[in-house]
Amino acid sequence: MLKNITLYVVEDYNALSQKAALLFAQTVKTNPTGVYGLATGSTPEGMYDRLVKMSQTNEIDMTKIVAFNLDEYVSIGPDHTQSYAYYMATKLFNATGVPIQNRNIPRGDAPDPHNECAEYEKKIVNAGGIHLQVLGIGTNGHIGFNEPADTFAGQTSYAALAEETIQANSRFFDSIDDVPKFAISMGIQTIMMAETILLLASGESKAKILGEALQGPITPQVPASALQLHRNVIVIADKAAAKFL
Ligand code: PGA
Repeated sequence: MLKNITLYVVEDYNALSQKAALLFAQTVKTNPTGVYGLATGSTPEGMYDRLVKMSQTNEIDMTKIVAFNLDEYVSIGPDHTQSYAYYMATKLFNATGVPIQNRNIPRGDAPDPHNECAEYEKKIVNAGGIHLQVLGIGTNGHIGFNEPADTFAGQTSYAALAEETIQANSRFFDSIDDVPKFAISMGIQTIMMAETILLLASGESKAKILGEALQGPITPQVPASALQLHRNVIVIADKAAAKFL
């Protein structure tokens, strides 16, 4: 493993969630007004659950953090139950008291999505950049909605979802036809600017791609492989996901 990557292999998803929550909480204690990059999907849910509990027992104060989410579906608004704005509000922000004005998520229903991308990128810079960025990884190696491509995506952009991602995310929608086909996503460059990256991977379905991302060639066909070039990446994987590391 590269020396800029710190790898923790833990027993299972529960242990992953616990370790990730403790690490996140420790960072918030050190930097309570910091800028935190957050992810959606199934993987960070256990970590968010624990942060909610820690916040309810006053072990952590998240009321001063500034949050920037990785991405949002285009064509649905923040009140849609499958929007990432709704996910974040219900799974983390409301129960931990992250102030509305500190919750930054691209507007999927923005009248001009391209302008929304540019504005989002500016907001991150104006906030002073991201201290800790949480990431999941798609089975095709995507991070955010940066799908396999011929070049690495730069800044926040309007991105088409890969067929594999539409399939994977259809589990959250009534029908696969309801899955949005586009998203606004931080780019690889945006993600790489974060001071520290926390990548979470759980389950056997992530094992092959995690091996490729961390140990294979650096290629835009495996967007997460760019992380090999970042100076400070922490990976928490359960045994099943770490099988090939
Ligand atoms: P998951 O998604 O956490 O639901 O597996 C990860 C991703 O697609 O980035």
